[in-house]
Amino acid sequence: MPRPKAFVTRVIPEAGIERLAAVYDAEVNREDRQLSPQEIAGHAKGCQALITLLTDRVDGALLDLCPDVRIVANVAVGYDNVDVPAATERGVWVANTPGVLTETTADLAWALLMATARRLGEAERFVRAGRYHGWGILMLLGGDVHGKTLGIVGFGRIGQAVAKRARGFEMRVLYTDAQRVSGAVEHDCRATFVDKATLLAESDFVSLHVPLMPQTHHWLGETEFMAMRSTAYVVNTSRGPVIDEAALAKALRSGWIAGAGLDVFEREPQVHPDLLACENALLLPHIGSASIETRDRMATIAADNCIAFARGERPPTAVNEPVQAKA
Ligand code: DGY
Repeated sequence: MPRPKAFVTRVIPEAGIERLAAVYDAEVNREDRQLSPQEIAGHAKGCQALITLLTDRVDGALLDLCPDVRIVANVAVGYDNVDVPAATERGVWVANTPGVLTETTADLAWALLMATARRLGEAERFVRAGRYHGWGILMLLGGDVHGKTLGIVGFGRIGQAVAKRARGFEMRVLYTDAQRVSGAVEHDCRATFVDKATLLAESDFVSLHVPLMPQTHHWLGETEFMAMRSTAYVVNTSRGPVIDEAALAKALRSGWIAGAGLDVFEREPQVHPDLLACENALLLPHIGSASIETRDRMATIAADNCIAFARGERPPTAVNEPVQAKA
């Protein structure tokens, strides 16, 4: 039996490549640049498995250019870069990497929350610019974190992990989501379910943990920023388009809110120029899951999905049920 073939669109951690190579003849784009659909199709010729990153747009047109591909293993928990219905109707599995990046992303959300409230970005720039000439009692004053109200938008795995960390800071935790979680989970997270208006009005920190879908696109816009406290902070480690960036920049400039910590942007890797001009915005280059251990685990899960497929099994973290899935 010839070994199945796989194409990895960009460099991923070696742990995943080694795992994949045990079963597949795997080619990796070692240039580590985003390939065009035509380039991907060229490399994916004869490949049953395509390992993609969130920077790859996998739509029906690309899948039509890659008729041999039967599984798209996206190395991310979010898969808004993949047109899942298009894959499903073409008999192609789509898999993601849930679970393994929950804690790491929650850590980063907290890092952003604290850094934003205590103005760490500005403070660091201040020192590096040679402007630190002595301690000042009014220098770089921020907001307290402990004892405040944290509003979590999207109470899945990551939202819950963020809530649990709030205990150490003796915070009140509110959450909103399309569905209320069980009483046991609410109790475990010490979180209270509220509607959107209450969350916006009562939170000192609003942290976003929803997937990008039509319902969550621009979940925070001008109306919402105006409804928030002028002392409140927004943290986004989910997907950029959940926030209307132009409205956010206006809110930051106008003092409708106190600050924002962003790990994701509407049009990555571009950052809205008005946000770049806001000192009270702390901006990171989408590093939510960027720990060595987590990225290894994400790459390994993607490989495991491809391997399960090659064995005729259901990919363990598939997100679809392909029409007439071809084994
Ligand atoms: C994801 O997995 O969706 C993150 O955005 C990157 O790890």
